Amino acid sequence: MKAIEENQRRKNTTFKPPGLPDFENGADTLGNLVAGVAHELNTPLGNTRIVASLLSEQFREFAAAFEAGKLRRSQMDGFLNRGREAVELLERSSARAADLVGHFKQVAVDQSSARRRSFDLRRTVEEMLVTLRLMFKRTKHQIELDIPAGLEMDSYPGPLEQVITNLVANSLTHGFVGIEQGCIELQAQAVGETQVVLRCVDNGAGIPTETLHRLFEPFFTSRLGQGGSGLGLYIAYNLVTGVLGGTIEVESSPGHGATFILTLPRTAPDR
Ligand SMILES: Nc1ncnc2c1ncn2[C@@H]1O[C@H](COP(=O)(O)OP(=O)(O)OP(=O)(O)O)[C@@H](O)[C@H]1O
Ligand SMILES: [Mg+2]
Repeated sequence: MKAIEENQRRKNTTFKPPGLPDFENGADTLGNLVAGVAHELNTPLGNTRIVASLLSEQFREFAAAFEAGKLRRSQMDGFLNRGREAVELLERSSARAADLVGHFKQVAVDQSSARRRSFDLRRTVEEMLVTLRLMFKRTKHQIELDIPAGLEMDSYPGPLEQVITNLVANSLTHGFVGIEQGCIELQAQAVGETQVVLRCVDNGAGIPTETLHRLFEPFFTSRLGQGGSGLGLYIAYNLVTGVLGGTIEVESSPGHGATFILTLPRTAPDR
């Protein structure tokens, strides 16, 4: 695929995440995360409260005018318009809050309950494509596989699917902004007897060099207020370095797509 070759010829900037301060320290991270989620929830919940109390005030006025038989047409129109706006805002804010909680639940997912089994990497990723392709509906973007048959793994397909889903979702929502027909390729190859390298390559917008080192931090998002919670890559990082026992890094330069590189042991560590 063209995007891949281009990507390989290019001098990309690479970032390997280990060693960030209080990033791998479990207790600290969880504490920060809880504080972060509480902080993020504050805005949508605060909005919800304000709008709900405005709405209740408007209902009171409306009811009073109605009872007194003084309800004018213009008042009625105003009430309906403001009411519609308020309800839309309530919907948006509560959806945002629910989204955040949903993501947070993924972070907290108990990695030890993930099911381990032997599987063929190519066949398993092919099966994932059925679900992944749902995200491509109504777009012209494409996803391709370049994974040799016969790459057996003894690992956790559930967490692996979660990671790939988050990476593909990112290519679609960030990489392909303003691009009509983007392409994502999932490539894998064996490294020695014991490891595989799995790459998720897109030919999208790429990532500014100065933000590359923050990508895996919880709550780092370039779409603040537009539905981004900044937890997708943090979750991916945790699953890859936790239950899957591997590493994840990113290579990108602006305008030239992004590549996420997972190096995974074919036999996941014992837990
Ligand atoms: N393939 C990509 N192309 C361009 N930018 C990317 C890509 N993947 C990630 N990013 C950048 O990394 C940031 C962090 O990604 P992450 O998945 O952690 O959060 P998010 O996608 O913004 O929100 P969430 O995944 O929680 O909905 C994104 O906001 C985006 O700026
Ligand atoms: Mg994301």
